[in-house]
Amino acid sequence: MKQLKVKTAFIKEIKPDVFLIGLDSGYIAKTAKPGQFLHIKVDEKNTILRRPLSIHKIDKNLIYILFRVRGRGTKILSGKTKGNIIDVIGPLGNGFNTLTSSRALNILVAGGMGVAPLVFLGKKLTEIKNQKSKCKNLVLLGAKSKKEVLAEKEFKKLRFEINIATDDGSRGFKGNVAELLKKILSTYQHDNISTNIYACGPKEMFYEIKKVIAKYPSIQAQVSFEQFMGCGLGICYGCVIETKEGYKKVCKDGPVFDLKII
Ligand SMILES: Cc1cc2nc3c(=O)[nH]c(=O)nc-3n(C[C@H](O)[C@H](O)[C@H](O)COP(=O)(O)OP(=O)(O)OC[C@H]3O[C@@H](n4cnc5c(N)ncnc54)[C@H](O)[C@@H]3O)c2cc1C
Ligand code: FES
Repeated sequence: MKQLKVKTAFIKEIKPDVFLIGLDSGYIAKTAKPGQFLHIKVDEKNTILRRPLSIHKIDKNLIYILFRVRGRGTKILSGKTKGNIIDVIGPLGNGFNTLTSSRALNILVAGGMGVAPLVFLGKKLTEIKNQKSKCKNLVLLGAKSKKEVLAEKEFKKLRFEINIATDDGSRGFKGNVAELLKKILSTYQHDNISTNIYACGPKEMFYEIKKVIAKYPSIQAQVSFEQFMGCGLGICYGCVIETKEGYKKVCKDGPVFDLKII
């Protein structure tokens, strides 16, 4: 982890209020693992706290961040232009633990903007699959409506089986991704395969997933938490959550946790 000044290579609005920004950093490209995040100083003068944003994907020295404008910080970030220098600290956090058994069913579950860290993870799982052909990779993309589905092209490129759930039923399964997960899990035999779930999205989604997988004790699930952050470095205790194993700092012990302890 380092504090770095990185150059903005590009920024574009890919959907209303959803931006993709490319930052140039050989150091982050070499050291980051899927599920880690950058703590970004969006503005040198007016915004004291940095904003945590996941590494969406990496291509050579380019770090992609996918973000939705939520408030002041992300609004300022969306106004950056090519060539702007941004102060970042990273890569931070633990990242996903990619489980590599020879026969695996990997299911990525994305609730809305929760897809942000899952493309980088998808790339890693595709590399594993290329070595162990008995792995199967699936992604469940959840959105309010068909217009809000994100990163579908990315997962197509990675040869994932794509399943879409929309709240209004305008595309794919009508309902939320946890309901879709329930339907999909019921079509597989989990005795002779290791099923791994990797999820990111709102907390409520994690509780729904927990209920869905309760009847499959062999399934492993990791979830990436979003939480307000102060320092991002494990010092201020601003991001603490209560788990079955006591209090945990999302920035340092997470953001990825085993769903069993949530
Ligand atoms: C590890 C981590 C990775 C993240 N990765 C991404 C990402 O890749 N893409 C992305 O779009 N967002 C991501 N987020 C969420 C992102 O950090 C917040 O959206 C951002 O900090 C909001 O800043 P703001 O100044 O724009 O909004 P603020 O003005 O601070 O808040 C605007 C609104 O958003 C809510 N909010 C702010 N921060 C959070 C938060 N952390 N969790 C839940 N609600 C919040 C507030 O309640 C308020 O309603 C991530 C969060 C964490 C902890
Ligand atoms: S944000 Fe300071 S301890 Fe996590």
